[in-house]
Amino acid sequence: MIGNIGSYVDEDRREVGYWLGREYWGRGHATAALALFLTEARERPLFAHVAAHNRGGARVLAKCGFVLLASAEDGAADEVLLRLGGRISISDAVSSSEKSG
Ligand SMILES: CC(C)(COP(=O)(O)OP(=O)(O)OC[C@H]1O[C@@H](n2cnc3c(N)ncnc32)[C@H](O)[C@@H]1OP(=O)(O)O)[C@@H](O)C(=O)NCCC(=O)NCCS
Repeated sequence: MIGNIGSYVDEDRREVGYWLGREYWGRGHATAALALFLTEARERPLFAHVAAHNRGGARVLAKCGFVLLASAEDGAADEVLLRLGGRISISDAVSSSEKSG
Protein backbone atom coordinates (compact mmCIF):
# COMPACT_ATOMS: atom_id res chain seq x y z
CA MET A 1 0.00 0.00 0.00
CA ILE A 2 1.37 3.43 -0.94
CA GLY A 3 -1.34 5.54 0.67
CA ASN A 4 -4.93 5.84 1.75
CA ILE A 5 -8.03 7.84 0.83
CA GLY A 6 -11.47 7.80 2.36
CA SER A 7 -14.37 9.84 3.64
CA TYR A 8 -16.18 10.09 6.94
CA VAL A 9 -18.76 12.25 8.69
CA ASP A 10 -17.48 14.87 11.14
CA GLU A 11 -19.87 17.33 12.82
CA ASP A 12 -22.58 16.52 10.25
CA ARG A 13 -20.22 17.22 7.37
CA ARG A 14 -18.94 14.56 5.00
CA GLU A 15 -15.21 14.98 4.69
CA VAL A 16 -12.47 13.42 2.61
CA GLY A 17 -8.96 12.72 3.83
CA TYR A 18 -5.89 11.16 2.27
CA TRP A 19 -2.19 10.57 2.71
CA LEU A 20 0.57 9.20 0.57
CA GLY A 21 3.91 7.70 1.60
CA ARG A 22 6.64 10.32 1.26
CA GLU A 23 8.65 8.23 -1.19
CA TYR A 24 5.70 8.47 -3.61
CA TRP A 25 5.16 12.23 -3.48
CA GLY A 26 5.52 14.43 -6.52
CA ARG A 27 4.28 11.94 -9.12
CA GLY A 28 0.64 13.00 -9.40
CA HIS A 29 -0.63 10.04 -7.39
CA ALA A 30 -2.65 12.09 -4.87
CA THR A 31 -4.40 14.13 -7.56
CA ALA A 32 -5.18 10.97 -9.55
CA ALA A 33 -6.46 9.15 -6.45
CA LEU A 34 -8.69 12.04 -5.36
CA ALA A 35 -10.08 12.57 -8.86
CA LEU A 36 -10.96 8.87 -9.11
CA PHE A 37 -12.37 8.82 -5.58
CA LEU A 38 -14.67 11.73 -6.43
CA THR A 39 -16.21 9.77 -9.29
CA GLU A 40 -17.12 7.00 -6.83
CA ALA A 41 -18.05 9.08 -3.76
CA ARG A 42 -20.85 11.25 -5.15
CA GLU A 43 -22.19 12.92 -1.99
CA ARG A 44 -21.96 16.73 -2.09
CA PRO A 45 -21.07 18.96 -0.50
CA LEU A 46 -17.82 17.28 0.43
CA PHE A 47 -15.40 18.99 2.80
CA ALA A 48 -11.70 18.67 3.59
CA HIS A 49 -9.58 20.05 6.43
CA VAL A 50 -5.95 20.73 5.62
CA ALA A 51 -3.20 22.12 7.83
CA ALA A 52 -2.56 25.73 6.81
CA HIS A 53 1.12 25.02 6.06
CA ASN A 54 0.25 21.98 3.90
CA ARG A 55 0.43 23.58 0.47
CA GLY A 56 0.60 20.24 -1.32
CA GLY A 57 -2.52 18.92 0.36
CA ALA A 58 -4.47 22.09 -0.45
CA ARG A 59 -3.17 22.17 -4.02
CA VAL A 60 -4.38 18.61 -4.66
CA LEU A 61 -7.86 19.60 -3.46
CA ALA A 62 -7.91 22.80 -5.54
CA LYS A 63 -6.93 20.87 -8.66
CA CYS A 64 -9.98 18.66 -8.07
CA GLY A 65 -12.35 21.61 -7.74
CA PHE A 66 -12.42 22.27 -3.99
CA VAL A 67 -12.70 25.92 -2.98
CA LEU A 68 -11.44 27.56 0.19
CA LEU A 69 -14.32 28.05 2.61
CA ALA A 70 -12.65 29.36 5.74
CA SER A 71 -9.60 29.35 7.91
CA ALA A 72 -10.13 27.47 11.13
CA GLU A 73 -8.38 26.94 14.41
CA ASP A 74 -8.60 23.28 15.32
CA GLY A 75 -6.76 22.42 18.51
CA ALA A 76 -3.07 23.15 18.21
CA ALA A 77 -2.95 23.17 14.41
CA ASP A 78 -4.08 25.95 12.13
CA GLU A 79 -6.28 24.45 9.46
CA VAL A 80 -8.20 25.56 6.40
CA LEU A 81 -11.56 24.15 5.34
CA LEU A 82 -12.33 23.50 1.69
CA ARG A 83 -15.59 22.50 0.05
CA LEU A 84 -16.61 20.75 -3.16
CA GLY A 85 -20.14 21.28 -4.42
CA GLY A 86 -23.34 22.15 -2.63
CA ARG A 87 -24.30 25.45 -1.12
CA ILE A 88 -22.72 27.16 1.84
CA SER A 89 -25.16 26.70 4.71
CA ILE A 90 -25.53 29.00 7.68
CA SER A 91 -24.34 26.19 9.95
CA ASP A 92 -21.14 25.82 7.86
CA ALA A 93 -20.45 29.54 8.14
CA VAL A 94 -21.19 29.64 11.87
CA SER A 95 -19.17 26.51 12.55
CA SER A 96 -16.19 27.88 10.59
CA SER A 97 -16.28 31.28 12.27
CA GLU A 98 -16.58 29.65 15.70
CA LYS A 99 -13.50 27.56 14.96
CA SER A 100 -11.53 30.56 13.70
CA GLY A 101 -12.33 32.30 16.91
C1 LIG B 1 -0.38 16.17 0.04
C2 LIG B 1 0.09 14.87 -0.57
C3 LIG B 1 -1.09 13.92 -0.63
C4 LIG B 1 0.59 15.22 -2.00
O1 LIG B 1 0.71 14.04 -2.80
P1 LIG B 1 1.38 14.08 -4.28
O2 LIG B 1 1.02 12.78 -4.95
O3 LIG B 1 2.82 14.41 -4.14
O4 LIG B 1 0.64 15.27 -5.00
P2 LIG B 1 0.59 15.49 -6.59
O5 LIG B 1 1.83 14.90 -7.21
O6 LIG B 1 -0.72 14.97 -7.09
O7 LIG B 1 0.70 17.08 -6.70
C5 LIG B 1 -0.44 17.88 -6.77
C6 LIG B 1 -0.06 19.35 -6.76
O8 LIG B 1 0.43 19.71 -5.46
C7 LIG B 1 1.69 20.34 -5.61
N1 LIG B 1 2.47 20.06 -4.42
C8 LIG B 1 2.76 18.83 -3.91
N2 LIG B 1 3.50 18.97 -2.80
C9 LIG B 1 3.67 20.31 -2.61
C10 LIG B 1 4.33 21.11 -1.62
N3 LIG B 1 4.99 20.54 -0.59
N4 LIG B 1 4.29 22.46 -1.73
C11 LIG B 1 3.64 23.04 -2.76
N5 LIG B 1 2.98 22.34 -3.73
C12 LIG B 1 3.01 20.99 -3.65
C13 LIG B 1 2.27 19.77 -6.89
O9 LIG B 1 3.25 20.64 -7.44
C14 LIG B 1 1.04 19.69 -7.75
O10 LIG B 1 0.67 20.95 -8.25
P3 LIG B 1 0.92 21.35 -9.81
O11 LIG B 1 0.26 20.28 -10.63
O12 LIG B 1 0.28 22.69 -9.92
O13 LIG B 1 2.40 21.36 -9.99
C15 LIG B 1 1.18 14.25 0.25
O14 LIG B 1 2.14 15.23 0.43
C16 LIG B 1 0.71 13.72 1.62
O15 LIG B 1 0.37 12.54 1.77
N6 LIG B 1 0.69 14.60 2.68
C17 LIG B 1 0.25 14.20 4.03
C18 LIG B 1 -1.28 14.02 4.16
C19 LIG B 1 -2.08 15.20 3.64
O16 LIG B 1 -1.57 16.28 3.50
N7 LIG B 1 -3.37 14.97 3.33
C20 LIG B 1 -4.22 16.02 2.76
C21 LIG B 1 -5.24 16.54 3.75
S1 LIG B 1 -6.57 15.43 4.04
